[in-house]
Amino acid sequence: MTEAHTRRALIVGASRGLGLALVEEYARRGVEVVATVRDAESEALRALTERFPVAVEHVDVTDALQISALAHQLARDQFDLLFVVAGISLAPVDEPASDIADDAFTRTMLTNALGAMRVVERLAALVPQTGTVAVMSSGQGSVANNTSGGFEVYRASKAALNQLMRSYAARHAAEPKTLLLLAPGWIRTDMGGEGAGLDIAEAIPPLVDTIEAQHGTPGLHYLDRHGATVPW
Ligand SMILES: NC(=O)c1ccc[n+]([C@@H]2O[C@H](COP(=O)([O-])OP(=O)(O)OC[C@H]3O[C@@H](n4cnc5c(N)ncnc54)[C@H](OP(=O)(O)O)[C@@H]3O)[C@@H](O)[C@H]2O)c1
Repeated sequence: MTEAHTRRALIVGASRGLGLALVEEYARRGVEVVATVRDAESEALRALTERFPVAVEHVDVTDALQISALAHQLARDQFDLLFVVAGISLAPVDEPASDIADDAFTRTMLTNALGAMRVVERLAALVPQTGTVAVMSSGQGSVANNTSGGFEVYRASKAALNQLMRSYAARHAAEPKTLLLLAPGWIRTDMGGEGAGLDIAEAIPPLVDTIEAQHGTPGLHYLDRHGATVPW
């Protein structure tokens, strides 16, 4: 993002957790934010709209019609950053993939892989060629780093997301946009749980610093919150 104009970010999946924290972090840095939720806006997000230039829109990333409606609603807008944060993890850490209920498998893939990519496909047009399209992946999406197992379907969904983003990047190789898959670390949220090693306040500022540092770097990068490349 450049300093010459009021910077704008569209953050998808911002009712709570990392998405909500990203809204606050960008707003504190002077960025105008459009934050999306799928249901009623949370009290915490509403409080941010009263303190900062934060607007709220609605989209469920598993609903292609809602994504199209959001694209239509925002058609006249431009964003320096589109950041798709929404994600779910439905199965216990030690459940083999073969034991998961079909519906839970489908919902995990629909949300974390297909839904995220549909948002990218439909909304990336709102990001100028100098801008950034980021998607929240996970270190668990790394095939190369999977020596411990666990969270098998969640891992698979983030690996699928990574692969789909590589295909997207290949199709858009001539464009100078910055494309990011981000692995923020294990963070205490509803998803991360109490046992996670990081709290939000530790993880989000370096993650945003990393996104800002990638400005003007064309192509797809899979990075941790400190900007180190994660092996595919
Ligand atoms: N926490 C970690 O340790 C960690 C580590 C690596 C990556 N991540 C990734 O970071 C992202 C955020 O995780 P988190 O820890 O903040 O999780 P969280 O606290 O469980 O929050 C998940 C967010 O995603 C939204 N969401 C879920 N399904 C959605 C859908 N179909 N459409 C739109 N929004 C949807 C939720 O909205 P509702 O309130 O409506 O449910 C909520 O805002 C996820 O992609 C996750 O995989 C997290």
